[in-house]
Amino acid sequence: MRLLFLADVFGSAGRRAVEERLPGLRDELGVDFCVVNGENAADGRGLTPKLADKLLAAGADVLTLGNHVWARDEIGPYLAQSERVIRPANVASGSPGRALAVAPAADGTPVAVVNLLGSLFLDVPVGPFEVLDELVDEARRAASVVVVDFHAEATSEKIAVARWLDGRVTAVIGTHTHVQTSDARVQPGGTAAITDAGMTGPHDSVIGVRTDLVLRRFTTQLPIRFEPAEGDVRMEGVIFECDGDGRATAIESFRLLDNR
Ligand SMILES: [Fe+2]
Repeated sequence: MRLLFLADVFGSAGRRAVEERLPGLRDELGVDFCVVNGENAADGRGLTPKLADKLLAAGADVLTLGNHVWARDEIGPYLAQSERVIRPANVASGSPGRALAVAPAADGTPVAVVNLLGSLFLDVPVGPFEVLDELVDEARRAASVVVVDFHAEATSEKIAVARWLDGRVTAVIGTHTHVQTSDARVQPGGTAAITDAGMTGPHDSVIGVRTDLVLRRFTTQLPIRFEPAEGDVRMEGVIFECDGDGRATAIESFRLLDNR
C-alpha cells in the first residue's frame, strides 16, 4: 500500500493548492490513502467545518489537527460527529471529538490514523506517553496499517515517540514546525518516520505567516495580528509504503513547488 501524508495546510493559499492538486496527485503518485493535517487551514489557525469538508472532498481520507484545534468555535460540534476528522488524543478529557479514525484505502483495506500532541513547548493536560500505548493498541485492533500524526515542537520528543512505537505502527509522521526535515527513514522495527513533514502553504513567509508582520511583532513586542502569507506556495509531506501486515517498506519526503 502506498500512502501520502500532506503536511500542515496553511491558510487559503495552502488549501487552494490541495483543492487544485490533490485529486490529480492521488492518481499520478498511485496513492491508496491520503492523510492531511488541516490544523492551520483556517487563516493559519484551526479548521472550520466548511474547510474540513473541502479538504475531504479534494481527496483527503482523514484530516488531523494539532495545537490550534480549538481556535474555531464551530469545530467542536463538527468533531463530535465526524469519523474522518480527528483531534489530538491528549487534550482535556471532556473535549468533543475522537483521536482515532479508521477509513478504507482504495482497495478497501482499513487504515487507522491517530493524532497526538507533544508536551515540550506546548500546553497539554497530559503528555503523549501517558496515552500513546492505549491509543495505538486500539488502532491496531481496528487495522494493520496505523499512521500516527505526532504534532510537536521538539525534535527530541518526536524522535523518541518514533522509536517508542517502532514495530508497532506503520508510520510516525511529525508535524507542527512547518519545516521539513531530511530524516525520513524506516526504523529497524519496520516503522517509517520523519521528524517533520513540512508545510503545504506559502513558503515566502515565516512558517506561513507574512514575514513583515512577524518581524514587526518580534522587534516591537506589540500584539500585531498575524495574517497568512501568499507567495511561493509548496505542497510538502511524505510518501510511504507498507506491506499487508502494516510494516513500512519505504518512505521519502515529498515536495511540490509552483502550485499557483
Ligand atoms: Fe501546530
